[in-house]
Parts: sequence; structure tokens; C-alpha cells
Amino acid sequence: MKIKNICCIGAGYVGGPTMAVIAQKCPSVDVTVVDINEKRIAAWNDPDVENIPIYEPGLSDIVKEARDRNLFFSTDVNAAIDKADMIFISVNTPTKTYGIGKGMAADLKWIELCARQIAEVAKNDKIIVEKSTLPVRTAAALKDILDNTGNGVKFQILSNPEFLAEGTAVEDLKKPDRVLIGGDIDTPEGKEAMEALVNIYASWVPKENILTTNVWSSELSKLTANAFLAQRVSSINAMSELCEKTGADVNEVAKAVGMDSRVGPKFLKASVGFGGSCFQKDILNLVYIAKTFGLNEVADYWEQVIIMNDHQKRRFAANIVKTLYNTVSGKKIAILGWAFKKDTNDTRESAAIYVTDYLLNEQAEVVVYDPKVNSEQVYADLEYLCTHSNEEIRERVKVVTSAEEACKDAHAIAVLTEWDEFKELDWKEVYENMLKPAFLFDGRRLLNRKTKEDIGFEFYAIGS
Ligand code: NAD
Ligand code: UGA
Repeated sequence: MKIKNICCIGAGYVGGPTMAVIAQKCPSVDVTVVDINEKRIAAWNDPDVENIPIYEPGLSDIVKEARDRNLFFSTDVNAAIDKADMIFISVNTPTKTYGIGKGMAADLKWIELCARQIAEVAKNDKIIVEKSTLPVRTAAALKDILDNTGNGVKFQILSNPEFLAEGTAVEDLKKPDRVLIGGDIDTPEGKEAMEALVNIYASWVPKENILTTNVWSSELSKLTANAFLAQRVSSINAMSELCEKTGADVNEVAKAVGMDSRVGPKFLKASVGFGGSCFQKDILNLVYIAKTFGLNEVADYWEQVIIMNDHQKRRFAANIVKTLYNTVSGKKIAILGWAFKKDTNDTRESAAIYVTDYLLNEQAEVVVYDPKVNSEQVYADLEYLCTHSNEEIRERVKVVTSAEEACKDAHAIAVLTEWDEFKELDWKEVYENMLKPAFLFDGRRLLNRKTKEDIGFEFYAIGS
């Protein structure tokens, strides 16, 4: 079976880049990315490709090449569903904020809406691909909805979780460690559907890197992969606190441990805590699933990863207050970096949000600078927490357009995102324009301690 038309529902951080790369690599396939968010679609269609809604290195070039050739962005969801042989569902699956499983389970409202819309519109057989990260066994619920429409249309459901990381999305999509495709391996129709998706990826991914499994393994592998990655960060962050008490240096420890080929060097960078839209949400989801099966020890084990991460963010903020003589009330604190990691404009669950909220509780005056995040986003992130009024946030938090401006007349600086440009700042000048003693808190182990101390900073870095 050869796929000619792909539809992707959800033009977000996953749908947009993933489909752009598929369109680039498979010029004979028409790819239409649809979304109910009109503003987002308009931005994807902006004549100036630099204005596309997601910042990822290399993405605008791909969009420039493929857009209006075989890559289309539209709000006409029904038309795209109707035309497609294969439909990717790439909508958001955030943590539930209400009802059963509140604060833990994944909210599958948007997934179900997609399934119902597909069921209503489809007139011919289609392959449905779960691209969103979903609880294990969601495919069974999707199938139930799709198979009960009575219109005779046949659906095959595949799980094809996405492993890209933001900031390196294009690179990850072009050279994935693996592509995972779960499907109904027991029926000829299931195998044919899997083959069709394998063939799409095989246009650029070596066949040995394309794994096929049963659906449940595929769904659960995605949650497991994120849990393992986040666990490594929490593990090294736990050690960072011990390093600070003992005189050990967490970078040296990470290097020594990571050189063991059984452990490996990646994802052992101590930080102010992991952020991003997925690690916390996916682990909470995993904890919830384990609990629903009565696997309390399994649930508790994974929950510790989140507990450690929350602790790391809190203790970083608490250390600022403690170091500044136990009060930051009325003091100006510069926050360098708001995105949850460098090279992305995504701020979801960024540690900066929580550190700032903590400092606001202590009545600090906060000035934020991030090269890719605008003031409205910073305010929206803080307002979302509902811990301070909108007026108070706008009064106490200022967002500026350069690091130098943020740091001017500050009592302390906190580096919360590892943007390269922070390494290149004229730190001597920054120091001269600050109040003394000038405190510098490095939440990313980005800066060199010796050169900063030589300038005169009171320097604090996670894990040393
Ligand atoms: P996102 O919020 O950026 O994008 C989701 C989009 O879906 C939104 O633009 C929303 O308007 C749209 N949408 C929701 N319901 C819709 C509907 N019924 N019809 C049309 N459009 C609809 O989310 P994201 O970051 O792209 O994540 C999507 C999924 O991929 C999540 O399940 C996430 O866990 C998973 N994932 C994300 C990443 C990542 O790096 N962000 C990586 C791997 C997997
Ligand atoms: C992560 C996974 O890496 C992807 O494989 C996965 O597809 C994705 O989640 C998802 O499912 O959404 P992402 O969150 O985009 O990708 O970015 P990461 O590079 O994993 O970083 C996550 C957070 O951990 C960031 O805040 C980062 O700064 C932090 N981190 C990462 C550390 O503090 N230390 C490290 O060593 C690595």
C-alpha cells in the first residue's frame, strides 16, 4: 500500500517539525498539517518563514523548501481528514486538571475529539497513527470509537511515538536513534499498515533503525524512555546537592560515572531542574497508570523522580534568598533565560517559572531576559500558576531585551537557561553595573567559576 496523502492533526512542536521533515524527505506524498488554532496556522503560512510559530534550528529552511509544494498548513480539519490515507494524531495530551486522576493522568479529551471527528468524516479506509504520547492501551479506546460508527470504514491504528527533543528537533528527525512503530502484528491488515508507515520513514531512515512491535509495547516504550531520561537528570541532581555539602564537584562525578560504557555520558548534566512539556507529565501519567493497576511500589519509585526535581528548583531559589542575607524583598534579581532549555522558545514547565514564583513570594523585583521568549509569554506562564495577581506580576516582573539591561543595578543574577550568548557576555561590565556584593547563581553549570570570581562575583553553581 502506497501512501499518497497524509494528514496530521495538531500543528504544534511535534506535528509541525515532524511533518515538515516527512514532506521534505517524501516529495511524492502530500502532507497537510491541520489545527483548530487559527493563529498558529496563519503563522505556519506566514510568507516570511522566519515567523513560523516554532523556533527550531534548521526548521525554517525545510518549511521554505516544502511549503506549498507538498507541505500544507490549514484549519480545514475535515477536508484534510477526508483526503488522507494516513492520519497522524499529534495533539496535546497534558496532565488532567480536573476530575478523576487530576494532577496525574493524561487528559485525553483532545485525542478523543480527534477520533470522533475522524469517525464522522471518513468515507474510506484509513490508517490512524498515534503520534501524541499516550497512556498504554489508548489505541484500544481509539479503535472502539472508530469502529462503532456503523459506516463500514475500516481503520488500522498504529502507535508511532515521537522521540525528538526540542532545540534539536530537525537533527533528531533527520537522524533518529530509532523509529518505533507499534501495530496489530497478528493480522495481514495490521502488518500492511505497519509496512506503509515503515516505507515512509525508510525514505531516509536505515531499515535497521525502524523497530516494529505490538501496540502496547510501543505506547509503553515512549513513557519508559522519558521516565529513564528524566530519572538520569534527577539522579545527577540528587548528587549535586551532596556535592555541595562535601566538596565534590558534580561535573567531575558525572564525567567519572559516565565514562563507564554501561552508564554512558549523556543526560548527566546537573541543572536547576528539568522542564519541558513532557518529562513531568509523562512520569505522572506513568505513576497514575501503575497506581490504577495497584502497583504502588512501581508508582512510588517513579514519583521520586518528580519529587527530586521539585526539590531541586525549590532549593535553588531558597539558596538565593539565604545567600542574600535571608531577604530579597525589594531586591532586584536578574533572571537570564526563561525557555526550559536553550535553542527553543518553549517555556512549558521551565524551571525559571518556578524559581521566579518563589522569588515573588519573597517580594523580589524580578527582571527577565531570554533571547527567544517575549514578555507576554513570561506573564502568561506566571499567571497560569495563579499564585500572584496579574497586577502584582506585571508590577514586580519586568521583561527586557538584553542580558546587560536585565543585570543593570541588580543584586543578583540567576542563569536558568544555558543559552550560548550568556557565556559570551562582557561579565566584567555586567559586574561593574551591579550592586555589590554582586551575586551570580549558575543553575546550569554554564559559567567558569574562576574567571567570575576573579572579576569579583560571589559565585554559586549547582553541584560544587
Ligand atoms: P502542542 O500543544 O504544541 O500542539 C498540539 C496542537 O494540537 C495545538 O496547536 C492544538 O491547537 C492542536 N489541537 C488540539 N486538539 C485539536 C483538534 N481536535 N483538532 C485540531 N487541532 C487540535 O503539543 P506538542 O508539544 O506538539 O505535543 C503533542 C504531543 O506530542 C503530546 O502528546 C506530547 O506529549 C508529544 N510529544 C511532544 C514532544 C515535544 O518535544 N514537545 C516530543 C515528543 C512527544
Ligand atoms: C525530551 C526527550 O529528550 C525526548 O526524547 C522526548 O521526545 C521529549 O522529551 C518529549 O517526549 O517531549 P525535551 O523535553 O524536548 O525532550 O528536551 P530534553 O533535552 O530532554 O531536556 C528536558 C529537560 O531536562 C530540559 O529542561 C533540560 O535542560 C533538562 N536536562 C537535560 C538537564 O537538566 N540535564 C541533562 O543532562 C539533560
